[in-house]
Amino acid sequence: MEFVASDKSCLTWSGDCLVIGLSEESLPLTGILADLNRQCSGLLQELIDESEFTGKADSTAVIRLGGDAAVRKLGIVGLGGSDELSLERLRRAAASAARLAKKEKCATLGISFPVWNNSPALTTQSLVEGSLLAMHQDSRFKSEPEKSKVELETVHLLEQVGQTAAIEKAQKICAGVILARELVAAPPNVVTPAKLAETAAEIAQAHGLSVEILERDDCEKRGMGAYLGVAQASDIPPKFIHLTYQPSGTPKRKLAIVGKGLTFDSGGLNIKAGAGSSIEMMKIDMGGAAATLGAAKAIAQLQPDVEVHFISAATENMISGHALHPGDILTASNGKTIEVNNTDAEGRLTLADALVFANQLKVDAIVDLATLTGACIVALGNDIGAMFTESRDLAKSLMTAAETTGEKLWQMPMEEKYFEGLKSVVADMKNTGPRAGGSITAALFLKQFVNKETDWAHLDIAGPVWTEKESGYDNPGATGYGVRTLVQWVLANS
Ligand code: BES
Ligand code: MN
Ligand code: ZN
Repeated sequence: MEFVASDKSCLTWSGDCLVIGLSEESLPLTGILADLNRQCSGLLQELIDESEFTGKADSTAVIRLGGDAAVRKLGIVGLGGSDELSLERLRRAAASAARLAKKEKCATLGISFPVWNNSPALTTQSLVEGSLLAMHQDSRFKSEPEKSKVELETVHLLEQVGQTAAIEKAQKICAGVILARELVAAPPNVVTPAKLAETAAEIAQAHGLSVEILERDDCEKRGMGAYLGVAQASDIPPKFIHLTYQPSGTPKRKLAIVGKGLTFDSGGLNIKAGAGSSIEMMKIDMGGAAATLGAAKAIAQLQPDVEVHFISAATENMISGHALHPGDILTASNGKTIEVNNTDAEGRLTLADALVFANQLKVDAIVDLATLTGACIVALGNDIGAMFTESRDLAKSLMTAAETTGEKLWQMPMEEKYFEGLKSVVADMKNTGPRAGGSITAALFLKQFVNKETDWAHLDIAGPVWTEKESGYDNPGATGYGVRTLVQWVLANS
């Protein structure tokens, strides 16, 4: 799909489908919209009346214009109250416009939306993101992909001259989001630890990053006993992935992004057998690693003045004669011992060694992303990620980034007292505590593997990594959650 920042207005553009963004305050029609209405012989007003359109956010309507009109279809998309206009509203509205054009079999779409907050660049970026992400279709695993005869080919952003940089920025970011979506959506017999490592190598090759893959024996030498304990039952080898983006100038900061990379989580001997444990969905358990690689792909192209390390301790969590026993004691690479009282709390074991590795790189800040706990879904539902951090600065910068991108994130407490639940009689800690506060004890567990001096945040993305229904620019399936916020956060650090 191609984007054109056009100096044409909705009055002069011609093409298959014209979509106008209307806020509640743009009714009754005045100014250029009244002109447009006159130009189409009152059909815009008729459309508004017949569909009882009020400008409510996410509402749409469409009408066919007669014979020799410059556009075939005229659509309207509601933007809600103009005081509530946001980049996210625009992103969702652009998604609605693109979906409408596709449904109406239009190859060219012209969209006319207001500029948010006097920021044409951010407005254009959001419109491109919304339409690109909404139009992303994944038919890699269909033998006969549904293809409509007419696909949406070109989107003209009307009254948005000179915004080519914003278009390109959005395209780079969306390439990262789409990579993450496709990694998460692919089944566990396709996306293996080796596949994740290959993907990292491809990103490095294409965009000039350096890549290091630690094999099992390299990890043994580094004493990564927690990670290797999880990996030991699988017939396929673990791959510890480390990608580095080094800016051409002197980096302003050094950051690390760490993603949980369980390409399949059976639960191990504490197998996911209970009702609702969704073992068949556990390909999504590498959503953190997918977001990490997606962010790497985008950041490598956007080239900020920040050094960024992208890390994932990738493996499967399987069962076999050489699986972890519930009760085994493992030693992580910082020397801490862990009594594994539940083999299904494996993500934190892999992250433990990945976080120690990130710390050894002497970075200023670490953000990890993980589909870590079902408890987090119970707490925040399927749309909202959880943020755990003791750094006010990091909390603020991540929250600001998430608000800019529209990815919903909520800060949770790191209640130190709950660490009591992880006390072990025999080892330094157990890997799971009581059911209550399960996502908090998971975060407190991870904290044991991060140096106190390093700013660190943990994002539990178990809920938003996947969606069953279409919503805004998300399609059913993997969302690519985290990529856009990570990219925004890194750019804000440059
Ligand atoms: N990968 C799961 C968490 C998960 C569950 C992600 C559902 C997405 C959807 C994680 O490894 C896990 O199994 N967590 C356990 C922890 C428990 C044993 C303390 C859980 O949440 O049940
Ligand atoms: Mn698990
Ligand atoms: Zn897991």
